[in-house]
Amino acid sequence: MRISILSTHIEISDELPENSGDIEQLYRDAFPDEDLVPLVKKLLASGDEVLSLTATKGGNLVGHAVFTTCGIAIENEASDQGVALLGPVAVLAALQKQGIGGSLIQKGLERLTASGIAQVFVLGDPNYYSRFGFQEDGLIAPPYPLLEQWRPAWQSKSLQNDMRVQSGILTVPVSWQDVSLWS
Ligand SMILES: CC(C)(COP(=O)(O)OP(=O)(O)OC[C@H]1O[C@@H](n2cnc3c(N)ncnc32)[C@H](O)[C@@H]1OP(=O)(O)O)[C@@H](O)C(=O)NCCC(=O)NCCS
Repeated sequence: MRISILSTHIEISDELPENSGDIEQLYRDAFPDEDLVPLVKKLLASGDEVLSLTATKGGNLVGHAVFTTCGIAIENEASDQGVALLGPVAVLAALQKQGIGGSLIQKGLERLTASGIAQVFVLGDPNYYSRFGFQEDGLIAPPYPLLEQWRPAWQSKSLQNDMRVQSGILTVPVSWQDVSLWS
């Protein structure tokens, strides 16, 4: 995918193993007050269970987004619904607000739609994620209880004919099984 931003080209691609050092630097730049590198390293090492997309400009990494394949458990039974969790997303501080984060998210949603994923969840600022059609989700619980003030930040977007999973708990792979990521 090639998009034109302020007359420069941004390329959205699948992450390559040689991007990993640059990705760590990117997260340190985009999140100066939060260390997401351990999570990102685990996600990048987890293979097929993640869709890891990079944004590059002139061959240099400027953005990254991860979508993790998850499940839904209903009364402790795994359902066969394929769902995903979006995050983290990062864009170099100097290049934010130019559409790069939006392009990464949009491309990821298109890829997941094509692969039959039913719904995507995110814990993030509703003012930003509502731009992509995410809405607060009170039907599917996050893997760990959220602080009350974070509840509006738990959102989802249906990818297939507006079908929404009606009840259950999001089950996440081991990289996300850390309560500190959710509190
Ligand atoms: C959040 C982030 C990924 C968005 O990427 P981006 O390339 O800057 O975003 P886009 O250019 O696609 O969209 C920019 C718009 O979203 C808004 N926006 C960006 N982050 C926002 C946020 N957290 N809440 C609300 N709005 C936000 C901007 O104000 C801008 O609005 P405008 O179009 O009215 O000017 C990027 O700003 C970033 O890396 N931030 C630091 C890390 C972070 O918070 N990541 C998200 C949580 S995992």
